[in-house]
Amino acid sequence: MLKAITETEIPGEQEFIPQNVWEKANDHQVSREQKTSSKPDLTNMKIMVVDDVELNVKLACSHLSIAGYKNFIKQSDSTKALTQIYQESPDVLLLDIMMPKVSGLDILEAVRADHHFSHLPILILTASTENEMKNKALELGATDFLNKPIDTQDLLPRVRNALIMKMHQDHLESLVQERTAELEEAQREVVHCLACASEYRDNETGNHVIRVGKYVEILARKLGYDTRQAEMLKLASTLHDMGKIGIPDSILLKPGKLTNEEFAHMKNHCDYGEDICSRTGSFTHKMLDTSDTVGTRMLEESKSPLLKLASSIAATHHEKWDGSGYPRGLKGEEIPLEGRIVAVADVFDALSSKRPYKDPFPLEKCIAILEEGKGSHFDAHLVDLFLSQMDSIVIIRDKYTD
Ligand SMILES: [Fe+2]
Ligand SMILES: [Fe+2]
Repeated sequence: MLKAITETEIPGEQEFIPQNVWEKANDHQVSREQKTSSKPDLTNMKIMVVDDVELNVKLACSHLSIAGYKNFIKQSDSTKALTQIYQESPDVLLLDIMMPKVSGLDILEAVRADHHFSHLPILILTASTENEMKNKALELGATDFLNKPIDTQDLLPRVRNALIMKMHQDHLESLVQERTAELEEAQREVVHCLACASEYRDNETGNHVIRVGKYVEILARKLGYDTRQAEMLKLASTLHDMGKIGIPDSILLKPGKLTNEEFAHMKNHCDYGEDICSRTGSFTHKMLDTSDTVGTRMLEESKSPLLKLASSIAATHHEKWDGSGYPRGLKGEEIPLEGRIVAVADVFDALSSKRPYKDPFPLEKCIAILEEGKGSHFDAHLVDLFLSQMDSIVIIRDKYTD
């Protein structure tokens, strides 16, 4: 005879689930219940209805309006729908399929191709018999269907669910944006700390890296970099002399002129900086000469665009346009643009600021030296752009003086 199992004898789920996971699941349950008990207000979310039959648009909006929704975008000309979606950014789209000139499927396809609208719920207005059309719409990314003629029992729960989904999605996206901003800020701070660390080792430079970063940003904007790219280049350029950490004090802090041997050692700061920022930690540029280690090195390289840029700048900021620079003797456009940009900013700053072995050169002399270096030391185009921004450059020079 089968024994009746009472509730107390049923093995609890808890026994099969680790305690911490169980508690988390229960927490989640509580917060879900709390959330549903305080119903989110969806009535101000934007509902867009596109149907070439104006009466259908009015009917849908009237049903929704009776249910408390207030924010409608009505469109019965399908040729205008797409532009209006981009302008208004609705929270849900009710979309008819059979429309002249531009069909609902055309609109659906275009909207889904734009990543800004990949999470926009799209409810397709369709007669229940149009199965082939429905499959096509699903393939193109339709969220759900609403039968025509529209009735409230069908319409209200679907619109509500779609809006709740959109609200959650928006919330998630804002969380991701917030976290990304926090991460970027943390990255900025870490880079700033690293740049400061390299400055502490080299007590000649004071505000040097800050000024160089700002000059680089001006040049980048002039070259057409957007705000974000220019900001990244500015940050990366503050690490250009990071490799000086690897140079012994006896050379780095030597008051007099360096011997040839010492200078040869000093030149290594480019490779050291490149290695530090690309995470290889090898400190041996010679590794680049063997193809098998190049592969290993590339796999180990940092994935951060900022550190990749910093690594490239550290490696190439002493290269010269005519190939007479170091460490690799790269020529012209073989030198990455970021390295060429920093070269101009770095030299200008060395000329225009005080160093233990010299006073700041007058502005005219700094400009003349840059002009003279066009095509030999520097990329001539970059010098021209830099000199065209001299008013802003001087403001930075004076504001961040040592
Ligand atoms: Fe340097
Ligand atoms: Fe420098």
